[in-house]
Amino acid sequence: MLYYIGVFLIILNCVTGHNLQCDKIDNNNRFDCFPEYGSNQEDCERRGCCWSPPFGLKHNSNINTPYCYFPSDFPDYQVSSSQSLDNTLTYSLHKLNSTFRQKEILKLEARIVYDTKNRLRVQITDATKKRYQVPVFNNNYKAYEKMKRTDDTDYQIFVNKDPFAIKIYRKSSGRLIFDTSVAPLIYADQYIQFSTRLVSKIFYGIGEHQDSLAHEADWNRYTFWNRDIPPTVNTNLYGTHPFYMSLDQDGTAMGFYLLNSNAMDINVNPTPALTFITIGGIIDFYVYLGPSPSEVVAQHLDVVGRPQMPQYFTLGFHLCRWGYFTSEKLFEVIKRNRAIRIPYDVQWTDIDAMSQRLDWTYDKQNFSSLAQVIADLHAHDQYYVNIIDPAISNTPGYYPYESGLRQNVFIKPLNGSEPLIGVVWPGTTVFPDFTNPNTSVWWFEQAKNFHNQIPYDGIWIDMNEPSSFVDGSVHGCAGNQYDKPPYVPKVVGGALSSKTVCPSAQQHLSNHYNLHNLYGHFEAIATYNALRSIIKNKRPFILTRSSFGGTGQYAAHWSGDNRATWEDMYYSIPNMLSFNMFGIVQVGSDICGFSGDTNEELCVRWMQLGSFYPFMRNHNDDVSRDQDPAVFGKVAQDIIKKALLTRYTLLPYFYHLFYRSSQFGETVVRPMFFEFVRELPTHSIDRQFMVGPALLVTPVLEAAVDHVVGYFPNDTWYDFYNGHQLDISKGQYINLEAPITDINVHVRGGYVVPFQHPGLTTAQSRKNPFGLLVALKQNGTNKCAFGSLYWDDGQSLSSVDEQVFNYFNFMADQNGLTISRVRQGYDAKMILGHVKVYGVDKQVKMVTINGEMYDNFVYDDLNLVLEIKFIQVDMLLNKFISIFWS
Ligand code: NOJ
Repeated sequence: MLYYIGVFLIILNCVTGHNLQCDKIDNNNRFDCFPEYGSNQEDCERRGCCWSPPFGLKHNSNINTPYCYFPSDFPDYQVSSSQSLDNTLTYSLHKLNSTFRQKEILKLEARIVYDTKNRLRVQITDATKKRYQVPVFNNNYKAYEKMKRTDDTDYQIFVNKDPFAIKIYRKSSGRLIFDTSVAPLIYADQYIQFSTRLVSKIFYGIGEHQDSLAHEADWNRYTFWNRDIPPTVNTNLYGTHPFYMSLDQDGTAMGFYLLNSNAMDINVNPTPALTFITIGGIIDFYVYLGPSPSEVVAQHLDVVGRPQMPQYFTLGFHLCRWGYFTSEKLFEVIKRNRAIRIPYDVQWTDIDAMSQRLDWTYDKQNFSSLAQVIADLHAHDQYYVNIIDPAISNTPGYYPYESGLRQNVFIKPLNGSEPLIGVVWPGTTVFPDFTNPNTSVWWFEQAKNFHNQIPYDGIWIDMNEPSSFVDGSVHGCAGNQYDKPPYVPKVVGGALSSKTVCPSAQQHLSNHYNLHNLYGHFEAIATYNALRSIIKNKRPFILTRSSFGGTGQYAAHWSGDNRATWEDMYYSIPNMLSFNMFGIVQVGSDICGFSGDTNEELCVRWMQLGSFYPFMRNHNDDVSRDQDPAVFGKVAQDIIKKALLTRYTLLPYFYHLFYRSSQFGETVVRPMFFEFVRELPTHSIDRQFMVGPALLVTPVLEAAVDHVVGYFPNDTWYDFYNGHQLDISKGQYINLEAPITDINVHVRGGYVVPFQHPGLTTAQSRKNPFGLLVALKQNGTNKCAFGSLYWDDGQSLSSVDEQVFNYFNFMADQNGLTISRVRQGYDAKMILGHVKVYGVDKQVKMVTINGEMYDNFVYDDLNLVLEIKFIQVDMLLNKFISIFWS
């Protein structure tokens, strides 16, 4: 009988072309052996791979189950020798024969470094020849004490020798968190591929993409190649962050970062696993052990660099528009928004304020009064930001061009001696090479000269993917192996040169092929350094469209050319949450939408949502309708004003979060699962989000509704505005009333949120009394709440390092509140004016402040809120302030 079955199987294999190594692999565990377009059986089998039509094709994903996939015995690397020295394990790897990729590298070296207790690094590179590596360094990087004793780590590394594979286990749970054994390693000069098993079916990160926060491990692909394109799903966008986080069943989180700047695809399959295909550089990745989501992010930011502390005014409201067209119109817009008395700190201009769209100029006819307008902004404690594109017009006689030519700062075509020429707004242009140190000197000079005429307070660096309106250059590209690599990731436009500079072009540190994804990052560094010198001792404010891991040290980011739609309003949430994981915490989207006409309802709801973005800017294009708050009806204006006043009220809390982010690598806005990882519904929520640990925002993201469903984890939640406690006993969905007048915000019990009475600018607000919102949480028989506040001058670069700041801790229970001054280093007026306590369940008849009776309080016995008003206590005078109620 067995004999007959055997014969039958042999016949079957011959007929279908299968071998057993192929048949053992089920649909979900197929790893694509033919990621190029146009796979067919003949070519597939020539690659030594398996071919068979998958059964039960899925149609809801952006790629299909592959027909052509690796057999389990596909030739792979083997370990030929290994060595262990201090904290590093080194393996020599070899593969006997090339398979089907061009220029496979048969001898590799793998190094595994026990970096810290919760972080390890793996580098795999050519054993005999140096390859390009990402030339990015993190300024804040503190040298870690190297792990001498690998026993101290929370991970255990297991290396399989034949075939070579790395498995990483979390010691504390024994769970496998990383595993490359799922598919072969392929290492060719311009094609590197490896795969890793995910710990669960959903994962986060891998931006910049237009997507939900949680990505499901189904057939899918994410492409990375910085690109100027309105955010679209399944498309490579402006920035590159090959970082993912995944949650294990037990609620522990792990993270992974591939430090590689080449064009890349990440293919997802339902194994669940990710396959990284990069077309250059080396394999250089970090694995983070968390174990909490916030710890994963902090560990990641230790590697790429933590965000800088922002200037305080940049947390205010920013108004921008492409298409003011004249300085008179600009001034009119400023005045009409001042007239409706909305909080408003920063006014921007776009390329229409330039003279013929030339960088570092302004239009002396149409914007003749620009300097006066800026003087007027400054006189009102408001600020001005202007736009700069990297591309420089090559018009003879134009100073930035001529001086740049002299200093040899522009990117050149392969073997060319003259700059490469593309086309951007001003017509034909050349592109500064920001990896060249000369370029920073030249850039500074341009920025400085312009600042002497137009005293801007920050710079917006746009179009820095870099974007060009022609492919490659006006003369095309050389057409070598960098312009036409053997494998092209699935970039929009089909070619790497699509709407950017030729990949073969030469830059100081390497070719554009390697450096493309770093273009905006290097521009941000050069601009940051220029502003540090020009706007002396102040924290530079830069907004960049393109980004890479670590850009948050230098710049803020916005999500680019979105549309005035409810859908794009929704996408702004996963975008800002993802960017907070990437370390660019000051982030937001164009409020009310960049392209297309907005409408009042959408814009009002969006201004409310935007009031909780870490970076809040209303901006739109030159052909759509006006959308600054003052153009709407009185009712809408009042609602917008209320939202802005709420934001300004909460800025001390935001600022404190930015401080925590710059010092400890925390997020400012964060997904709900960061705080409630044990509650499964939170894992995929991206229509709600948290600001720090204490505020939960539940916006309306659709038209014509007056209710919104939100998930409320098992905790204590108070309505932010009136202190009414939500009646829940477990994590649950609640259908909240959502009239257009207010955005739903809830405060989490257990927290003290510092605030300040809002002014119409942050400069005004900063002079006003502070307040504390105390949200009590039941803890045994007591109730309690905690919080802190970091406070400095809001602008100096050295506040933290030189300890020029004040710091307070707040501690409350059901009977009172203590404010302890932990540090006094910044000389300011800080008056405590207002205390609101949510969750006071006993009638309050008496209040004392520092032992003295105080009369000015009200107790709301419906919502159980105690409000103590018009306090006048100097927060810097005493080390402790105590307030009791009974
Ligand atoms: C593209 C940017 O994304 C957009 O915000 C800007 O208004 C235009 N360029 C014009 O400068």
